[in-house]
Amino acid sequence: MDLDALSADELALVMRTAEVMEGVLRREVKKVPTLRGRTVMTLFYEPSTRTRVSFETAGKLLSAAVVNVSVQQSSVAKGESFLDTALTLQASAADVLVVRHPHAGAPYLVARHLQRTAVVNAGDGAHAHPTQALLDLYTLQRRLGSLQGRKVVMVGDAAHSRVARSNLWGLAKLGARVTLCAPPTLVPWDLLNGREQAPDHPFRNVEVESDLRTAVRGADVLMALRIQKERQRAGLIPSLREYAEHWQVTDEVMALAGPGALLMHPGPMNEGVEVSSSVAHGAQSVIEEQVTNGLAVRMAVLFLVAAPQESQRESA
Ligand code: NCD
Repeated sequence: MDLDALSADELALVMRTAEVMEGVLRREVKKVPTLRGRTVMTLFYEPSTRTRVSFETAGKLLSAAVVNVSVQQSSVAKGESFLDTALTLQASAADVLVVRHPHAGAPYLVARHLQRTAVVNAGDGAHAHPTQALLDLYTLQRRLGSLQGRKVVMVGDAAHSRVARSNLWGLAKLGARVTLCAPPTLVPWDLLNGREQAPDHPFRNVEVESDLRTAVRGADVLMALRIQKERQRAGLIPSLREYAEHWQVTDEVMALAGPGALLMHPGPMNEGVEVSSSVAHGAQSVIEEQVTNGLAVRMAVLFLVAAPQESQRESA
């Protein structure tokens, strides 16, 4: 499921569980026996550093057996379909399958065909990246407390960003005000065109402001998004240099937002395009904190989908 399908109570449960996991991560010995005897498999059809490493580490710290299926070296290279691969992994006793796939909807399709294996979406096409949004929300709540009425400015390629989409749902649920700042070609069309059709749709309240220096005034948070070159058709931006001139988050932009504003980026960053090196590693950046919190959030998600019911009740 994406964050659209999570109730406020479920969202709060993930946040509470992640807080417990953060406590585990602060211990000297970080390994706990919670998922002993369970098997977590990762199946990534797209490149990834932090998400895959984060799920793998999360599984290991919870004492699950973790198997990383390398798509290049598996029978996928011999033409085996995604569904057949997933069924094979279920038959190999996977309790959880963490899937990243270039096609929107792919993890949901296999989830419908697997009875004994829980599927976690680690990013599907331009559609959703639920655990990234959960870790972003967790990071914001740890820093700001309630997000009600807070101003979050997303800057960049929202049209092709699954991170933006999942965050739009999550931020709306928590009452944040979102402004999207991007060249018009990188604003999701449904965000603009869906407005009249669905009066209660959360994206309806998103403001769109193409001028970055106007957008960031009064912002509590700037969330920069990577230019998704691999998903773009040609010609959406004139050049990276020109994009950077108008939409790069720099010291000047952070100063306009104010000293208390936080800078986020899901990574991987193109430093010098979406963000300048100096703000990426500056005092207002929470980018590394996002990665660390990602581990706690993925431990929470694996726990909630795979831990025995009794241990979930004990921790509730
Ligand atoms: C994101 C992704 O893969 O969607 N990265 C990540 O998981 N942290 C963002 C991106 O690729 O731009």
